[in-house]
Amino acid sequence: MSESFDRLGLSKATLGALRRVRFTQPTPIQSQAIPPALSGKDIIGCAATGTGKTAAYVLPLVERFHSKKGTLGLVLAPTRELIQQIAEPVQVFAEARGLTHAVVIGGEDMGAQVEALKAQPTFVLATPGRLVDLLENGMVDFSKLEALVLDEADRMLDMGFFPQLERIFEALPRRRQTLLFSATLGPDVTEFARERLYRPVRVEVTRSGTPAERAEQRLYVVKPEEKSALLLTLLAEDEATALVFTKTKERADKVMRILQRAGHKSAVLHADRTQNQRRQAMEGFRKGTYRCLVATDIAARGLDVEDVGQVINYDLPHSPEDYVHRIGRTARAQASGVASTFAIPKDKAVVAQIERIMRGQIPRVQVPRDSPVFREAWNQFVASQKDPGPPQQDSEAPPQREQRQPAGRHARTHRKQR
Ligand SMILES: Nc1ncnc2c1ncn2[C@@H]1O[C@H](COP(=O)(O)OP(=O)(O)OP(=O)(O)O)[C@@H](O)[C@H]1O
Ligand SMILES: [Mg+2]
Repeated sequence: MSESFDRLGLSKATLGALRRVRFTQPTPIQSQAIPPALSGKDIIGCAATGTGKTAAYVLPLVERFHSKKGTLGLVLAPTRELIQQIAEPVQVFAEARGLTHAVVIGGEDMGAQVEALKAQPTFVLATPGRLVDLLENGMVDFSKLEALVLDEADRMLDMGFFPQLERIFEALPRRRQTLLFSATLGPDVTEFARERLYRPVRVEVTRSGTPAERAEQRLYVVKPEEKSALLLTLLAEDEATALVFTKTKERADKVMRILQRAGHKSAVLHADRTQNQRRQAMEGFRKGTYRCLVATDIAARGLDVEDVGQVINYDLPHSPEDYVHRIGRTARAQASGVASTFAIPKDKAVVAQIERIMRGQIPRVQVPRDSPVFREAWNQFVASQKDPGPPQQDSEAPPQREQRQPAGRHARTHRKQR
């Protein structure tokens, strides 16, 4: 589709900002959602990961709010890191139209957020928990609000967040525009839309659950104790930046230690880390200081980090939808990438569920048990089981010898540190 942004009804100022960020053509979700959103319609937008849903709601809202006063738009998303990321395009496009924004997230100074809210920023970008705290204290005025965006809408409307969302909805005017976006939209969202949206326009670029087109998926069926040897093998075979997902915070810490011992520069991101540690991990991963980020599903949704060449599901996610989101951290925009998933035999039912929501099979791949890296890691693991010395007690595999391999398919590759 060779559409142009000029035809979507956007202002000169916004077209200028689009040129500055080098968005030359709208993505399909942008060309289909921007015109109805500009005319004030409620939208249910579904498109695969990495296809530009953020700008699909930010652009029409900045146009609608131009030259108006007060807090007019509220964007909610599930994690602090995602809100901080959304703040970037909001900053660029809102500034081009003389509009402002404030970020309201947990873990950061509440006083500064209260001050920012007092100035009546055009946009409030928030995680639900902190916003509810501020609402309880009467610190937010949503009386003029015109639009609500639920990014990652299915996640925002699930059991975990819904009570907080109900509290937030109470504070918003009933007449408003509502925009829901995600790569996975299930029955909960349809139900919510039926009750709370007004004649929504459904923009479905790809069906819910469609995985990122250029993510090459691989499924390895392994024994639990083989996972760390396989992880080290994949990292040796492809030097691309890697995002590694685990099921729990404890396992994330443990996998990070395995990686660090093997000489891979790694950071960890999960809900028990302090805000400073979370910020530092994310910044370091974005800059390339860390080749690997080990995370729980806190990093599954929305995060847009350039050059993530591989996603490794060390453990399967809790919800099958999150598989689609996790693997969507690679192969974003025009990039490609590899998404490897480790499944143990008893994960069979969950794999089947994931395949059902994607309407496709994850190709099964042979575990590279003959690779020298795998063998060495495995042999050392076996030895450590026979004689578990103190440093290796919580490790599934000990350090690796340096392996020189050809660079991966991505721009940013990493050599192990020594
Ligand atoms: N029209 C465009 N031209 C070029 N790049 C774009 C365009 N629109 C968005 N992008 C870039 O594509 C990347 C992915 O965009 P975005 O994060 O909005 O995807 P998404 O659809 O929200 O994905 P997810 O479902 O994972 O949240 C970003 O780096 C963004 O800057
Ligand atoms: Mg997004």
